[in-house]
Amino acid sequence: MGRIAYVNGRFVPHGEACVHIEDRGYQLGDGVYEVWALFDGKLADAEGHFARLERSLSELSIRMPMSRAALTIVLREAVRRNKVREGLLYLQVTRGVARRDHAFPNPEVKPAVVITVNGLDRAAVEARAAKGIGVVTTPENRWGRCDIKTVGLLPNALAKQKAREAGASEAWFVDELGFVTEGASSNAWIVGQDGRLRTRDTNANILRGVTRHTLLDVIREDGLEVDERPFTPEEAVQAREAFITGAGSLVLPVIAVDGRPVGDGAVGPVASRLRRLYIERARATAI
Ligand code: PDD
Repeated sequence: MGRIAYVNGRFVPHGEACVHIEDRGYQLGDGVYEVWALFDGKLADAEGHFARLERSLSELSIRMPMSRAALTIVLREAVRRNKVREGLLYLQVTRGVARRDHAFPNPEVKPAVVITVNGLDRAAVEARAAKGIGVVTTPENRWGRCDIKTVGLLPNALAKQKAREAGASEAWFVDELGFVTEGASSNAWIVGQDGRLRTRDTNANILRGVTRHTLLDVIREDGLEVDERPFTPEEAVQAREAFITGAGSLVLPVIAVDGRPVGDGAVGPVASRLRRLYIERARATAI
């Protein structure tokens, strides 16, 4: 059986799934999204992603397309129909379909909803995590509301492409003061020479990562100290370890920044341990 997508109330074969040409997500980037990691066919960090979805929609004055309870049923059904145990679920909600006009449609239209599910080979992902990844830095050039998880991802896509062309896996945006804000699709962390962790605070113009949030709990329970303050790429290179977090990357060690090794240039014990602890937590609490 092939992949199944959900589009505006219907489950359809992935290859036949389509949205209207005047969907405002397509024409104006007027929509938001969420990505859930799937463990054993269940949604990881479900509550955090639902809460952020509701917040992103509310900040853009788009209504929730259905209740959280109904949406949970639809998301689970999408996972079930795709027979995916380990993978990612993508949900997109746009303001809906209307004749092209920058201002909101009046009267309001129904939000448009798309869901896709991707399976992944967890063993292959773990093998990659065990090697660590490289990141490149790129000037921060995004708008001032990166706390909203919008589908307007052009700067993120360009940054990710820059990383790929340099043989790296992620790009870190660097603000005008020289501090890392976050990754193109992840939050950024270092483990300093004093053993303290550091990640940017969420008053900065970054996404409030759900994985970041859960990992902060895991870290504190593990007895490690965290400073929520910014760091520079140079500090990352001088650090013992670095890593990124996100629903796609989970906790992924970073071994090089702009081609320069982080610490001794190998995957370190803290990032590896936090990856294991995060996955255990996410698996145990998935719904
Ligand atoms: N990206 N920062 C940005 C810019 C992101 O796009 C993401 C997630 C994160 C991490 O957030 P979370 O821990 O809630 O996944 C931080 C998703 C996975 C994506 O775009 O595919």
